[in-house]
Amino acid sequence: MPKLLSDQIDEHELEIILRELEKAISSEGDIVEFGCYVGTTSVPMTKRLAATDKKLYVYDSFEGLPEKTIEDQSPAGLQFKSGELAASKKQLIKNFKQAGLPLPVINKGWFSEISNEQVPRSICFAYLDGDYYLSVLDPLKLIWNKLSPGAIILVDDYANEALPGASKAVDYWLKTHPAKLKIEHSLAIITPIV
Ligand SMILES: C[S@@+](CC[C@H](N)C(=O)[O-])C[C@H]1O[C@@H](n2cnc3c(N)ncnc32)[C@H](O)[C@@H]1O
Repeated sequence: MPKLLSDQIDEHELEIILRELEKAISSEGDIVEFGCYVGTTSVPMTKRLAATDKKLYVYDSFEGLPEKTIEDQSPAGLQFKSGELAASKKQLIKNFKQAGLPLPVINKGWFSEISNEQVPRSICFAYLDGDYYLSVLDPLKLIWNKLSPGAIILVDDYANEALPGASKAVDYWLKTHPAKLKIEHSLAIITPIV
């Protein structure tokens, strides 16, 4: 496997992401990633999409993490601060060009300000990697009604005590939105029951 572009995921995690993408790819719709950073995951996902008619839509503030909410507080996660993990859109584009890949649809902005029109009409696979409570919950709200039958959502850091907001957002959402939930590595693998 080629070298990863950052330490934001490890090879095992990427294997799981690509495996789940493979399962979802036969379903209708496009792919979204909320929290793309420098493209560590977007670049290998785009390689897999090359021979398909599917598009990748990526979303990021490109200003790093927002402020934590109460749900994100953890003594194990003091290194995560507002502004941390800021990557430029330029760097993301450069990484795609260096890999010889077509660019995804890039949306710059806070997830809370993304409009319905900026999200594809139909989605078969979503990777949510915004680290914080609202950074997972806001995308869940944006994508849920657009998921096609067979769609899969992966949420990173579900099993990460440094980032407790991710699992709190998933658990809160699934109370009222039925889905199967499986945990593997640090990922929540969510299959909505539609
Ligand atoms: C862990 S990194 C993502 C890593 C990326 N998936 C990869 O594979 O390289 C988290 C990213 O989410 C973005 N982010 C977090 N919360 C956000 C929010 N509420 N709105 C916009 N971007 C956000 C940060 O700017 C950061 O780039």
